[in-house]
Amino acid sequence: MNHRVLTVEDLTIVHPARRRRPANVAVDGVSVFAERSEIVGVVGESGSGKTSLAMAVGGLGRVTSGTIDVDGVTPGPKMSRDERAAIQMVFQDPHGSFDPRQSIGQGLRELRKLHPKRTDWITDRDLLEKVGLGEGILTRLPHQISGGQAQRVSIARAILLRPSLLLADEPTSGLDVSIQAQIVRLLKQIRDDEALTILFISHDLAVVRAICDRVFVMKDGKVVEEGPTDEVLERPQHPYTRKLLAAVPGAGRRLAEAGDDPAAPAERRSPAREPQPVPATAPRLSPIEEAV
Ligand SMILES: Nc1ncnc2c1ncn2[C@@H]1O[C@H](COP(=O)(O)OP(=O)(O)OP(=O)(O)O)[C@@H](O)[C@H]1O
Ligand SMILES: [Mg+2]
Repeated sequence: MNHRVLTVEDLTIVHPARRRRPANVAVDGVSVFAERSEIVGVVGESGSGKTSLAMAVGGLGRVTSGTIDVDGVTPGPKMSRDERAAIQMVFQDPHGSFDPRQSIGQGLRELRKLHPKRTDWITDRDLLEKVGLGEGILTRLPHQISGGQAQRVSIARAILLRPSLLLADEPTSGLDVSIQAQIVRLLKQIRDDEALTILFISHDLAVVRAICDRVFVMKDGKVVEEGPTDEVLERPQHPYTRKLLAAVPGAGRRLAEAGDDPAAPAERRSPAREPQPVPATAPRLSPIEEAV
């Protein structure tokens, strides 16, 4: 049975005027939801209100009106430490969320000390294996690891706490395309293994297509279109979605052409489906989709 982990209803966020900046309606009557084990995308151009929404859902941002429910809890300053741990966030710049003087292992130990009950389900070694890292990384300092490794560590730190919801705000945007694809694959794998629910925020429709089950398209603080990712991308109803799609090579092709799992590399697809000659007019895949 479906279990709705995230329900956002009619959320409005107005950032108040400050200095020369006028008051700003960043989020305007937005409703979004996610069922357990779903990867739900929020996509839109810069300034469309995605991060304002994510920060509010994480309990760290302003809520002007409307309601947010994460597994029975209203995110915000009144959350207990345990409730706070149940909503984890992964950001674009993973290095920014690490203490630069603390080794990766020390960081994990600190989390375990703060949340002994939540974190006793897995050893460091098995946790790191889940995110494709070896134990050697435990003794490294944040500046001694690459951007891709750092994003794997931040995902490890998040799942160590067994969150009911993972908020991923542009988690692949700072990375090379091939590393982006690895992180996309990793998040899907973790969703499958841990039944994790992910709100995946991105300005990039190609990445969203590679990872999200459903998608909400945001423009100027409003959701202008929503639905299963393949439906929205095959038959976009809103001109804004069409505009976003036009920027992605091959975005309008039918997902069925790429097999059941549009993100699966060719060698993992059903052997019964022989590779078809590619017509000269076939839309190209975007680099991220070729790489995933
Ligand atoms: N703390 C703040 N104070 C005032 N205005 C803000 C604040 N945070 C965001 N805004 C404004 O709210 C609007 C939405 O910003 P937000 O960061 O949520 O968009 P975004 O979709 O995440 O954009 P990006 O893709 O660039 O990350 C923008 O106009 C932004 O300038
Ligand atoms: Mg943002």
